[in-house]
Amino acid sequence: DKTYRIAPSILSANFAKLGQEIEDVIKSGTDIVHFDVMDNHFVPNLTIGPLVCDAIRELSHNVGALIDVHLMVEPVDRIIPDFAKAGADIITFHPEASRHIDRSLAMIRDLGCKSGLVFNPATPLSYLDYVMDKVDMILLMSVNPGFGGQKFIPSTLGKLKEARARIDAYTAETGRQIWLEVDGGVNASNIAEIAKAGADTFVAGSAIFGAPQDTDPNRYDTVVKAM
Ligand code: DX5
Ligand code: ZN
Repeated sequence: DKTYRIAPSILSANFAKLGQEIEDVIKSGTDIVHFDVMDNHFVPNLTIGPLVCDAIRELSHNVGALIDVHLMVEPVDRIIPDFAKAGADIITFHPEASRHIDRSLAMIRDLGCKSGLVFNPATPLSYLDYVMDKVDMILLMSVNPGFGGQKFIPSTLGKLKEARARIDAYTAETGRQIWLEVDGGVNASNIAEIAKAGADTFVAGSAIFGAPQDTDPNRYDTVVKAM
């Protein structure tokens, strides 16, 4: 599976023009909208919830774009059904935020969404050992979660290679694909290196939405072309 996908993180979008911002990246060719949910408890910031997800669902789904909900909340189980109802296509959560990882993953699938685990820079991939069959996506954080616009942590590249090896071994055995997404500090100058290390899905927040659309109409393409 050598398909690459860009997932613009709307965390860095202009929230006063959220609909226009999403329309712009969809028009530019994106097929994934990355949706960051922070609770001021698991991470030190507070963002958006199911209400906003529901508000952008039509816009995204009309053109076949997936809503990729990254939960940085604790606990996770209570909020999962709300996002499934609000139109989430993919729901990922951090293993530290769930007491029952297997159950939370199963709950996401039961609600008809794709499921995934998110790994902070220092969180070991061994959380995957017994749940590979329950994940559709693995999300590696390349910054500590909580804020957009941080610097890419280089040691993530080695971890990406490790995650790629796990996925390839699993796919060889089962024939099933698992997406490998990277999130944090991804931009036009490092995305090629990150792709080489094994990622197939790239979250980019400030690299895309950092410049207003009217001053940089090619802001999305700049990241895509560097891949
Ligand atoms: C960070 C979020 C990211 C963030 C990325 O906690 O999970 O999705 O928006 O922003 P950039 O691309 O600016 O690092
Ligand atoms: Zn994210």
